[in-house]
Order: sequence, then C-alpha cells, then structure tokens
Amino acid sequence: MKNNSAGLPTKRQKSFLCSLLFGVVIVSAAFFIATAIIVVDHKQRFPGLQRLDSMQVTPVNLCENQCSPDGSEALPKGIVVKTSDLEMRPLWGPREKRKNPKSPMSLLAMAVGKKQKANVNEMIKKKNPKSPMSLLAMAVGKKQKANVNEMIKKFPLDDFVIMLFHYDGIVDDWKDLEWSSRAIHLSAVSQTKWFLHPDVVSEYAYIFLWDEDLGVQNFDAGRYVSIMRKEGLHISQPALDPEKSEVHHEMTTREKGSTVHRRIERMSRSKKHCYRNSTDPPCTGWVEMMAPVFSKEAWRCVWYMIQNDLIHAWGLDMQLGYCAQGNRTQYIGIVDSEYVVHYGLPTLGGSQNKTNSEPSSNEPSQEAVSKESNHIDIRTEVRKQSFNELETFKRRWRKAVQEDYCWVDPYSH
Ligand SMILES: *[C@@H]1O[C@H](CO)[C@@H](O)[C@H](O)[C@H]1NC(C)=O
Ligand SMILES: *[C@@H]1O[C@H](CO)[C@@H](O)[C@H](O)[C@H]1NC(C)=O
Ligand SMILES: *[C@@H]1O[C@H](CO)[C@@H](O)[C@H](O)[C@H]1NC(C)=O
Repeated sequence: MKNNSAGLPTKRQKSFLCSLLFGVVIVSAAFFIATAIIVVDHKQRFPGLQRLDSMQVTPVNLCENQCSPDGSEALPKGIVVKTSDLEMRPLWGPREKRKNPKSPMSLLAMAVGKKQKANVNEMIKKKNPKSPMSLLAMAVGKKQKANVNEMIKKFPLDDFVIMLFHYDGIVDDWKDLEWSSRAIHLSAVSQTKWFLHPDVVSEYAYIFLWDEDLGVQNFDAGRYVSIMRKEGLHISQPALDPEKSEVHHEMTTREKGSTVHRRIERMSRSKKHCYRNSTDPPCTGWVEMMAPVFSKEAWRCVWYMIQNDLIHAWGLDMQLGYCAQGNRTQYIGIVDSEYVVHYGLPTLGGSQNKTNSEPSSNEPSQEAVSKESNHIDIRTEVRKQSFNELETFKRRWRKAVQEDYCWVDPYSH
C-alpha cells in the first residue's frame, strides 16, 4: 500500500538497505584489513599509498543514518528508544508489581531424538514464557459506567492495559471503581488516534478497540486472546448473540458450536448476498468496527489507513483485509465461542452534547439517538456526515490506487 516509487524507502526496502549496508561494511572492513597488511609491506617503498590507505579507513558516507528512526539521526544509536509502553511508573519508590510480571525471555536448548517427541512436547509446553500484554481501548461516557465496569472485569489486569477515552469529559466519577487507578484515563477524545500510535502500543500483542455498549456475560478476554493466537487471526471480533443484539451484518452473527468462522454462505440481511464462492467482504475477510481486535502487526497497518479528518471512519471496515498480514479469508475471523451482546445503546455523546469524535464507531445508531425531536436532528446530521465521509474515503482510496503504480491489489479479480 505504500508508495514505492518515490521518496522514503518502505520498511522492507529500508531493512534490506540496512542489511546491504552491513554487508558493505563487512566487505570493506575485510578489504581494508587485507590492504592494510599489504600496505605494511609496501608503505616504505610507496609512500603514496598512505593516503589511499586513510581514504579507505573512513567509510563516512556509508554511515548515513539508513537505520535510524526519522528524526533521531543526530543521536548515537544506543540511546534511541524506539518504542514506548503505557505502564505507569511512580515518581519515586518501587514500582507496583504485576502479579505475574512479564518474565524476560529465556533460551531453552535441548538435544532431542524423535523417540522422545511426546515428552519433549510436554516439557516445552511448560516452559512457555508469560505472553505479552494486550491493550483494551474504549471511548466511554459516565452513563455507561455500570456496563463498562462489567466489561473491564472480563479483562484480567495482569494481562491487559486499559485505556479509557472519556468523551463526556467526566473522569473523576470513575475513581471509585476498583480497577480505576490502574487504567489510563484520557479526555482528549477527539484525537484518540494520537494515543494509539503503533510505536506507542507496539509492546502489546493485541489491541482491542471497543465500543462501550457490549454485553460480556459470555466473554473471557484471556481465552479470546489464546483463540486468536491459536487460529492465527490478525483481525477479529467476538460474534454477536443474535437474539439480544442489534445485528447489522449477518457475518457477525454467532454460529453455535463453532470456535471461529471466517465466512458466511447464506443470504445476507444487507443487499449483498453471500455464496460459497464469495471472496469479498462482508462475506469473508471482514469485521465490524464496534468490537475489532487487531494483532499489533495488523494495527500498525490499520492505523495508517485511519484518516484524521474522517471522524466516523466509514468504509474502513471494507479495507481491513489489506492489513490482514496475508490472505484476508484466512487471517480475519469472527470468534464464536467467546461472544458478546451488542446493545446498540445511544452512547457516545448522549443527549446534551453533539459529539464529533471517535473513529472506532461507525454506526449512526450508536451516535446520539433520542426520542426527543431536537436530538433526532443530531442523528440525521451524524448519518449524513457519515455517508459523506464514506464517499470521501472511497474517492481517496481510488485516487491512491491510481497514483501508486507500484501497488498491486491482491484481491482484484
Ligand atoms: C456538555 O454540555 C454541557 C451543557 O449542556 C456542558 O456543561 C458540558 O461541558 C458539555 N460537555 C462536553 C464534553 O462538551
Ligand atoms: C457463485 O455462486 C452463485 C450461486 O451458487 C452463482 O450464481 C455465481 O455465478 C457464482 N459466482 C462465481 C464467480 O462463480
Ligand atoms: C485467498 O484464499 C482463498 C481461499 O484459499 C483463495 O481462493 C484466494 O485466491 C486467496 N487470495 C489471495 C489474494 O491469495
């Protein structure tokens, strides 16, 4: 998706350049050593060689910052910290410890024979290091406090960092909740994207970007993460309980008895029909934006696709497949065994304040919905805005595709 033709090298090119550079350095070092040896013999006789010698000693131009993150070129490499995390550290004294602190990685080396395969398998399973933490990010308002509390209880705090964006600006009223002091509270809601920059959240294995109106009676975050890992999913969402939920797309409906489904074959409630041979979203390779979960690799890609000025992010869901780190029909799925209820409540903004924030929600029904007439206007406005943005997004996508001669659509047919 990146423009390969001009300007900055892409990541792959960059790392290729880095290895190339490394190779060149090795080769020139070897060459220098070789010449040095020869030169020692001949220096006396050919003093002119001395200058040639010193020219080869300094491969200055080879050190040109190919491997440094943008803007850090003026610093010595060793001091540059490329990522951050969201762990809170006290101003003095010891850090509050996680109950199961992230153990540093260790190396297990064993000489094995096939006969002991089963036993070795058991041993290695036990040595599994503690898995890295994941992140739950949610835009919340005080009205949904009770439900948000229930939701967060399903996320073990030893394995998850909780980040709340308070769209109504009320933060203090959450202090009484048990987990509140361990969550990160932000009230600059209109720019959630800032706080989820891939470099900031790269320490986390999975990023949950959830709406606040989900029922989690049949959901366990720990189990969910292990299913994603086992199934190799890079983008997913929990299935919706169809009896209690507001379902917008058939694809998200829970299939009883299944762990994960990656496609649907039946007729869709929307105009688009899905068959066994369907290869496009929303029949396969698709999740809705109300409860998406991204691997950190997928998130790094999706983040770049979020348009700063398109606040409802309509249309993004249809393009998620490009960020699936491989074939979208395989790496995107709906988790049936851990499922949720989508209440479709009037969240985000409520009745008093017209909201214009939150990229993670793309259904107008979740915006300010109210029976009172002046609030219906808000809903209509939001819907209109969302459709306009959808058109803008599609237009930008088409233009980007046209202009990038190096980009090939893996899904065109
Ligand atoms: C919402 O509206 C009320 C008054 O209607 C105002 O006091 C409050 O500051 C507003 N909140 C936000 C986040 O704009
Ligand atoms: C897919 O299957 C449907 C119904 O089984 C059929 O009508 C349609 O032509 C098929 N499409 C392709 C591209 O094979
Ligand atoms: C993705 O996988 C499906 C099913 O295996 C296959 O039909 C399709 O061609 C693949 N698409 C790409 C882009 O590899």
